[in-house]
Amino acid sequence: MSSVVGYIGKNYSWDFVVDALARLEYRGYDAAGFACLDVANKHLLYAKAVGPLQNLIDKVADKIIDGHVGIGHTRWATHGASTEVNAHPQFDEHKRLAVVHNGIIENHHSLRAQLKREGHEFISQTDTEVLAHYLEFALGTTQNEKISDLIVSVVERLQGAYAFIALLQERPDLLIAVRKGSSLCIGIGEDEFFVASDPIAFAGRTEKMIFMPDESFALILPDEVFLYDFEGNRLMFSVESVDVAWEEKGHDFESDMLKEIYEQKQALNATASFYKQLHQRDGLWRSLNYDRNKVKQLKHINLFACGTSWHAARIGKFFFELIAQTHADVSLASELRYMPFFPQENSLYVALSQSGETADTLEALRMINGMKLPTAVITNVAASIMVREAQGFLLLKAGPERSVCSTKAFTSEIGLLYLLAHFIALEKGLIDQAQLDKAYRNLFIAAQALESTLERYRNDLMLSLAPKYAKYEKFLFIGRHIMYPLALESALKLKEISYLFAQCSPAGELKHGALAMIDENVPVIIYSHLDPLIYKKLVANAQEIKARNGHLIIFGFNGQEELKEMADCFFAVPQVDPLLGPLAMSGLMQSFVYYIAKELGRPVDRPRNVAKTITVE
Ligand code: F6R
Repeated sequence: MSSVVGYIGKNYSWDFVVDALARLEYRGYDAAGFACLDVANKHLLYAKAVGPLQNLIDKVADKIIDGHVGIGHTRWATHGASTEVNAHPQFDEHKRLAVVHNGIIENHHSLRAQLKREGHEFISQTDTEVLAHYLEFALGTTQNEKISDLIVSVVERLQGAYAFIALLQERPDLLIAVRKGSSLCIGIGEDEFFVASDPIAFAGRTEKMIFMPDESFALILPDEVFLYDFEGNRLMFSVESVDVAWEEKGHDFESDMLKEIYEQKQALNATASFYKQLHQRDGLWRSLNYDRNKVKQLKHINLFACGTSWHAARIGKFFFELIAQTHADVSLASELRYMPFFPQENSLYVALSQSGETADTLEALRMINGMKLPTAVITNVAASIMVREAQGFLLLKAGPERSVCSTKAFTSEIGLLYLLAHFIALEKGLIDQAQLDKAYRNLFIAAQALESTLERYRNDLMLSLAPKYAKYEKFLFIGRHIMYPLALESALKLKEISYLFAQCSPAGELKHGALAMIDENVPVIIYSHLDPLIYKKLVANAQEIKARNGHLIIFGFNGQEELKEMADCFFAVPQVDPLLGPLAMSGLMQSFVYYIAKELGRPVDRPRNVAKTITVE
């Protein structure tokens, strides 16, 4: 997803801007750009390139484009195709100002029409160019007005969620940073300031930062920052010290995704030991900001999330209902805001988000916060916007996840939800300490099972199974009960990184329609279950598929002989706590999909059209 960065100060801006954009590359983008005022502060210089950041670097290599104030951008196309013209920075008609922008200006159509009537001509299809022209228009129509008043008049007209940074040729001593909805923070150096949509950009340069409040803007001079609300009132700000972990790239794996698949056992163990200690030190409920006594009365958990995190939440529902006897609802954050909402008493509303920045989840969180209901977020990114806005938070211990396709954050979410259900059960008197201790062990065993399957099947997957299955064009995934969300996750993973068509159905629903799809050309992937009754039903489903000449790939557990006999391809996973079946099978499922995508030559870490952090709704 798009990222914005900016620099003003004693040094040249290019180095920071390019470094920062490289750190934010993992968020996904399809074009990059840079603009600065030249060293003499006379001219606005810029460069843009479609494709990887390296294309921009190559383009700038032979001519020096640099200055003490600069801005940069990686763009994930929303308005208009990925072309150089549509890449940011965008400019006013006379190239006196440059803007980089995240998010969406929702009323750009009406602004564009108004500006056209004033004689403005546009060259790109972007809402950002409209913003640049509108800034120019505001500058041109005001005389001697303070720049802060001018920004107030501009933000009054803008609708949507956005963060932008602008520089003006006439004001080489100034960087303007504006945020509404999308995140933006300012890093404080020695006689220099950095601006970025994600504090990871500041790693190695400063730990001192200002998180701009929502609906605020900053006027940043080389030696001072002035912060305002959208009415133009000066805001006091606090400087936070944040240690942004940044692991330099470079590892022995062929891709980030494979590395992250292999890091899952460690991530799960780190989650279990961290939360064991936090719970022992009574820190868990404090971190969740949920009164321990209220946990006893807790009647509902409402989870909301998108994509892979939504699948983890759907698995978590089983934990809360079966372990903590607490009713759980799971909502797609992208739908939640547009559905009737019935606030519940004795509830906790929990957002799940690897990045802590997903716009749909964030807006749902804000809506629920606005109703004064208790909220919390489970996320992998401590410095994320959701951690600041939710009333409580629990951090995953997965370590940075760089591959666009989420793997270790997914299993860490499952592990943490499993523990949380046990913590609630303990407070409610449903389990005792010994059962909680068993839960830690169960998690450890499942993490071990996950890892053991990776090694066991690696060669088969690489050498024979991936070449075989990469030739198919369509896949059907099925599962029952807690394995159904895993089937959903698998179908999403296959689509996302291999671009093959994947459909998912609850196994019991096949006979209500999807069975019509079955023939020898559509492999059906079944995720088995350890519950004897559910297993029996799955065996029946497998027979129905076989009877129709279907091709069966079965992820089963050791000892499940009926399924094994029917399967065209059988993966055997060690038996674990049945509720941790999805966790134990996740690594193998991810590898299966991974090697198919590799076989097809797909860029697994950066699949086309999708991004890591989705900051638009
Ligand atoms: C798929 C994937 C996405 C994300 C979704 C939500 O592999 O990663 O489906 O899960 O965009 O992202 P977060 O969890 O950051 O809110």
